[in-house]
Amino acid sequence: MGIDTAPSIPPSADGLREAMVDTLRGWGGVRTASVEAAMRAVPRHLFVPEVSPERAYGPESVVTFRDEDGIAISSASGPGVVAAMLEQLEVRPGHRVLEIGAGTGYNAACLAELTGPSGRVTTVDIGGEIVAGARRGLAVAGYEDVRVVHGDGTDGVPEHAPYDRIIVTAGAWDVPPSWREQLAPGGRLVVPLRMRGVTRAVALELDGDVWRSVSIEECGFMPMRGPDAVEELNLELPPESGVRIRVDDGRPVDVTALGAALAMPPVLAWSGAVVPWKPLVHLDFWLAGASAEVCRIIVLSRAREAGLVEPLYSWGSMGCYTPDTFSYLIRRPAPGEGGQEMVELGACAYGPDGDRLAARVADRIRAWDHVGDARAGLRVEIHPEGSAGLRAMITADKRHSRVFVITEPA
Ligand SMILES: C[S@@+](CC[C@H](N)C(=O)[O-])C[C@H]1O[C@@H](n2cnc3c(N)ncnc32)[C@H](O)[C@@H]1O
Repeated sequence: MGIDTAPSIPPSADGLREAMVDTLRGWGGVRTASVEAAMRAVPRHLFVPEVSPERAYGPESVVTFRDEDGIAISSASGPGVVAAMLEQLEVRPGHRVLEIGAGTGYNAACLAELTGPSGRVTTVDIGGEIVAGARRGLAVAGYEDVRVVHGDGTDGVPEHAPYDRIIVTAGAWDVPPSWREQLAPGGRLVVPLRMRGVTRAVALELDGDVWRSVSIEECGFMPMRGPDAVEELNLELPPESGVRIRVDDGRPVDVTALGAALAMPPVLAWSGAVVPWKPLVHLDFWLAGASAEVCRIIVLSRAREAGLVEPLYSWGSMGCYTPDTFSYLIRRPAPGEGGQEMVELGACAYGPDGDRLAARVADRIRAWDHVGDARAGLRVEIHPEGSAGLRAMITADKRHSRVFVITEPA
């Protein structure tokens, strides 16, 4: 008997796009018919011609530009985060939309599908070559009506304001006054906001001069650039230990003292918090209450080979630091029922203050675990700088504003 040996036909770009949106629908990244239709319509592969269609429609972001040090400065964001932020933005036909961070132009094309011909999309990018690439992609894919502006999105794009929606697709350290001034009454801003080392895509609406969140989503973004930008630090602890500390908010880090801490024996503190092994929603926010600075501890293979205590994830873990000691989250298997993988969370600390810091982090893990489902009630409020304080888990003072992260119900 013959075996069916029909050659396998590689899936077409259209087929890959349908599969991408089906997957996003499946896990809830795409929730509404309008975002679904937009993402089914826009040929994403035409915006990233340097990679294969399989890669273009895969789950990861596609880096398109790097700086002279090899650091990624522009990309097409992963489809999951694109979908989540489009859902947060709630664009309607006829809306005027400003996007800050044109990148490849892909998201601007999705926005153009959502606004329809009666609306208008303006997108701005700080990189000249990036702007040229976005224009090219939008033209090839048939979205010539999108305005692509070269400039610093910190200033918005005043000449085409007001906007019903503003979306920022790079990590913003602050919310500058221009975004408030250029938003139409009843408008909405969606921005990946960096708060004490934690980044979330926050959808915000104005109530007088206070921005109040209407939704908060997990996300990761490259930081905004430009004269007003606050840089993230990415420092390797000496001597080439393979342990990097990634710090936001411009707080000082004594890498020599933290490098010396690595020579000390680690302190472990198990929290007793046993949880299913799945995303640990907002745990990094709770760490920001440990009266130490929040950071990411990035662990390279040479540090693992040298015997560093295994962090939570393959890349490393959320953690925090003081002038001479750092701590990060760890896990160990715990008994579970019904095949669900369970882990106990804990803290590992290196440094002279290791006992205290590890204990504090374990306390914060317990506090996070105790709050349970109420974590969904987390809110962000952004008040003008110099405003009075609020009862908040996190208060972050920025150049133009005071950001509060509040855990109690509104
Ligand atoms: C993750 S990419 C944007 C992805 C894009 N929305 C897309 O669909 O391809 C971030 C972009 O923000 C841009 N950017 C960074 N700082 C900026 C600023 N101050 N003003 C405008 N654009 C900025 C970067 O040049 C980069 O292209």
